[in-house]
Amino acid sequence: MIERFGRTERTLHWVHATGFFAMLATGLVLYLPALSELVARRNLVKNVHIFSAVVWAVAIVLVVAFGDRRRLADDWREIEALDRDDRRWLRGRSAAQGRFNAGQKVNVIVTAAFAVLFAISGFFLWLGERDHRFLFDGTGTVHDALTLVSVGIVSGHLYLALIHPATRHALRGMTVGDVREDWAREHHRKWVEERRGL
Ligand code: HEM
Ligand code: HEM
Repeated sequence: MIERFGRTERTLHWVHATGFFAMLATGLVLYLPALSELVARRNLVKNVHIFSAVVWAVAIVLVVAFGDRRRLADDWREIEALDRDDRRWLRGRSAAQGRFNAGQKVNVIVTAAFAVLFAISGFFLWLGERDHRFLFDGTGTVHDALTLVSVGIVSGHLYLALIHPATRHALRGMTVGDVREDWAREHHRKWVEERRGL
């Protein structure tokens, strides 16, 4: 077995995922008329949505502030560098991959960008209700579109993490922290070779 994700990386992932699902569930109750009628306590649900957003943002700041920041910085350096193999992989050709494959790199970047856009559009939805000078036409549409696209991406992510036989071993890396070396070599060959100093 080899270590894949340290405690900080796993905590950051699960804090983000928990916040996302809390906001998705409450957001959908606000968005879908059938659910709104069923729950029928719009104000309470809205407050829980906003409360989850604040707890989520504070929790992420705390994980970064008190966690292994050097490791997160190393992850980020690796993620933002798309090499030739990554570009081949994104064009649908087979190419040896590093610790994160090109799809995962794109997923991290999109997830981080969406988190910022959710927070900005959500903040203006909140502020616009209190001060109408900040009530802009497109804010709700942006917030809704982010939700729709995220649901698509996260559904694919859940399929790969929980169902697809070739990739679901990865769940061990995100829960316990380690994965089988032969699995890692098959999916992330450059990473395993680098670790062994090859
Ligand atoms: C920092 C993060 C976020 C903040 C501050 C925030 C804030 C808000 C606010 C203030 C509203 C308006 C409620 C209303 O007036 O009816 C809202 C609605 C909504 N939010 Fe969020 N939100 C955040 C993240 C998210 C996330 C991550 C999702 C989905 C995964 C989401 C999905 C929704 C949906 C679907 C609605 C209903 C929109 C509608 O009725 O058209 N939000 N949010
Ligand atoms: C029950 C829900 C979830 C499960 C079981 C899950 C599982 C996993 C696993 C196993 C990995 C590691 C893959 C690897 O070995 O590299 C991972 C990575 C990741 N997860 Fe999740 N995840 C969940 C929810 C979410 C949510 C809701 C988001 C974002 C909204 C998210 C975003 C990410 C990102 C950005 C990565 C790193 C890049 C990647 O592997 O695609 N996850 N997740």
